[in-house]
Amino acid sequence: MAEIHILDNSTIDKIAAGEVVERPASVVKELVENAMDAGARAITVEIKEGGIEFIRVTDDGSGIEKAHVKNAFLRHATSKINTVSDLMSLQSMGFRGEALSSIAAVAKVELVTKTKDALTGIRCCLEGAKETEFEEVGAPDGTTLIVRNLFFNTPARRKFLKTAMTEGSYITDLLEHMALSRPEISFKYVINGQTKFFTNGDGDLKAIIYRIFGRDIANEMIPFQVVDEDIVLEGFLGKPVLNRANRNFENYFVNRRYIKSKVISKAIEEGYASYMMQHRYPFCVLHITIPPESVDVNVHPTKMEVRFANQNTLFKLIAENISDFLAQQEMIPQATLGSEKKSEKKEKGAPKTEAPEPFEKERKLLREESGYNSGRNGSSAYDNSAKSSFAPKDSSANNSFSKDSFFVDNRITQTVKSSYSSAGTLPPPNRTGLYHETARGPAGNKIIGREPAP
Ligand SMILES: Nc1ncnc2c1ncn2[C@@H]1O[C@H](COP(=O)(O)OP(=O)(O)OP(=O)(O)O)[C@@H](O)[C@H]1O
Ligand SMILES: [Mg+2]
Repeated sequence: MAEIHILDNSTIDKIAAGEVVERPASVVKELVENAMDAGARAITVEIKEGGIEFIRVTDDGSGIEKAHVKNAFLRHATSKINTVSDLMSLQSMGFRGEALSSIAAVAKVELVTKTKDALTGIRCCLEGAKETEFEEVGAPDGTTLIVRNLFFNTPARRKFLKTAMTEGSYITDLLEHMALSRPEISFKYVINGQTKFFTNGDGDLKAIIYRIFGRDIANEMIPFQVVDEDIVLEGFLGKPVLNRANRNFENYFVNRRYIKSKVISKAIEEGYASYMMQHRYPFCVLHITIPPESVDVNVHPTKMEVRFANQNTLFKLIAENISDFLAQQEMIPQATLGSEKKSEKKEKGAPKTEAPEPFEKERKLLREESGYNSGRNGSSAYDNSAKSSFAPKDSSANNSFSKDSFFVDNRITQTVKSSYSSAGTLPPPNRTGLYHETARGPAGNKIIGREPAP
């Protein structure tokens, strides 16, 4: 008989990482979910080389206290549940306490975090789960996680990754869903230095559909809402004319969680059945709110699949209400002249705005005071006015940006130890009282996100 022995922790971590971190998109999903759980109002995701070389997720959420930073990287370390009974009433996105430890096991990770009450932040770096740096730094409130060189220590896993282009497209798809799942959070998504899309975070789901899918699609979406005892269906149903060749545009969320569910897909398709040809699929953005105790999200490590306590009831409710709703609508498609019809691809992501980082709310205030608005239609990029039930409940959360921190070439470099003083060494602020984004540091480095001038 072969000898039975217990695996060492680093092997256990790498095996666990295999379940949670399949590809760069899994890393982005876990980090964005953490940011959501931390109460972030604004989240920036930046990737390079499809996320294989570089992923940055910055939020303006609660931050992590100095004493807890190291725990966050331990396996089964979570602030979200205490006992198994908490799983039944779960409101948070995470609960397993294995995402950060799994990511840290297979990548080079840099964390910078600061809570509102702390004077300074913490910068902590790990390579393959081994801590390499831990220091106090000046930092804005919130958390930034940078993940470099994914699977650098597990070449076999890296070989399974697709091209940077394909991996990047998975992240884009994921972030589009995440933005649709949380209209009250402002998302900014940057690929290889270019802003791909930006959402206001003002709770307006239709505006997000417009930004992500373009005007032609948004114009063909009809608002839909059903309240049935303890289940709420809410969102937009595409007119049948928007039918697609695959299920990729059946966008649905359960309790604001982006999941995949055969039951929900089939129910939506059943609702549309009288309006679709065979092998054509509907376009919709549907939020389903059900009591947390009737859905089990703990069936898969990535939480992409869930189990419903009463799936037949849910199926019937979705299918029947969609079918009844569509029956009441005028479904005659409008004719569009050839020259007016823009291709969907061109239209997609068309509205572009200048997008601030999560810690740049003060910048926005200064812009508004100086009469500068970044939204296309005169709406500010941080206009928090409530427009729908997705609107933020509390718009008072504010953010400050520490005097001592800024990004230099995507690294957070300024520490409290540094002698780089805000007086004298920077070029004069521009007209709005802000240091311009292309300001140069002492070493000629590019400084991004410098705080507004005092
Ligand atoms: N962006 C963040 N802001 C504030 N706290 C965070 C952030 N990211 C992680 N944390 C803290 O670190 C802990 C560990 O995060 P991790 O993602 O590993 O586990 P989790 O979110 O609790 O569960 P899961 O493994 O299901 O995601 C979290 O419980 C949370 O307390
Ligand atoms: Mg998590």
